[in-house]
Amino acid sequence: MDIPEIDKLTESTLAEIQAAADLAALEALRIKTIGRNGMLPELMANLKSAPDKKAMGLALNRFKTSVTQALADRKTALAAAAESKAVAAVDWSLPGAFPRRGKLHPVTQLIDRTTAIFRRMGFTVADGPDVETEYYNFDALNTPADHVSRDTQDTFYLPGGRLLRTQTSAVQARYMEAHKPPVRIVCPGRCYRRDTTDATHSANFHQIEGLYVDEHVSLADLKGDIDHFARELMGAHVKSRFRTHFFPFTEPSVEVDFSCHMCHGKGCRVCKNSGWIEIMGAGMVDPNVFKSVGYDPDAVTGYAFGMGIERLAMLLFGIDDIRRLYENDVRYLDQF
Ligand code: DAH
Repeated sequence: MDIPEIDKLTESTLAEIQAAADLAALEALRIKTIGRNGMLPELMANLKSAPDKKAMGLALNRFKTSVTQALADRKTALAAAAESKAVAAVDWSLPGAFPRRGKLHPVTQLIDRTTAIFRRMGFTVADGPDVETEYYNFDALNTPADHVSRDTQDTFYLPGGRLLRTQTSAVQARYMEAHKPPVRIVCPGRCYRRDTTDATHSANFHQIEGLYVDEHVSLADLKGDIDHFARELMGAHVKSRFRTHFFPFTEPSVEVDFSCHMCHGKGCRVCKNSGWIEIMGAGMVDPNVFKSVGYDPDAVTGYAFGMGIERLAMLLFGIDDIRRLYENDVRYLDQF
């Protein structure tokens, strides 16, 4: 190829580049012209035998630089065109795509609400392990190995005298061993029992425990504080009542009912027509519990209570089956 032919080839190549319809066509052209096995290396091979090497070198250089520049320019132009086409394809009048807003699980909401109420009453939040020792879950709570109360709280036993705690009450003895009175704590957390799952039972659930120990703490303090809690949580019209009961770690022990927040005590489906809803167990801390943690039962008294968080969530949100809380169906949980 002589110099005029090379200049002609340069012109026609530039025209081809200008006409490339898309980036793929452009890339094919690049490979064909200045690519490793393209036209340029082939022409360069002829340089040696050319009559005027200098003029031929300049012509080949014109080919190389103008083609390289044209490829780059066309690439920019094609990219800009593609972008404006994409922008034109957007329908700006369509509503935006919003990210789904998350929210707290009903159980977490109730833990937060409950602890917030007791914090305002001067309680602090304490914590204990889910994997507990038999000692803190039962023995320290006046529930020795042969006690019938253990039967109703069968659980998952682990090697080395450990178990999955059946009640947040286990935190009581732990906390008292580590702190001198006065004690004012609430402990929310997971509990486990070997229960068959149904609408109201789950092998894994949550409780919140309360413990108040000081000089001269009385059942009247318990009643007043629980009444206040009932009003704060369920509404100003809600009252509490005590029924005598038995728990190994309290004496006397009571079960606490709240007047039905739905029907104001008249009787409805939620309270099974009784006007009252069972909410928690409570009582005055048994002197044996104080002895097991090294407190002097003649110097201090205290009250304790424990309640199920799922139950509170179900009552407040009108959830009829505990399993709904664990299925993680966001469409369902999103309502609360
Ligand atoms: N731990 C009890 C249960 O799971 C509830 C309970 C009752 C806790 C009386 C207490 C209490 O602290 O004093 O059934």
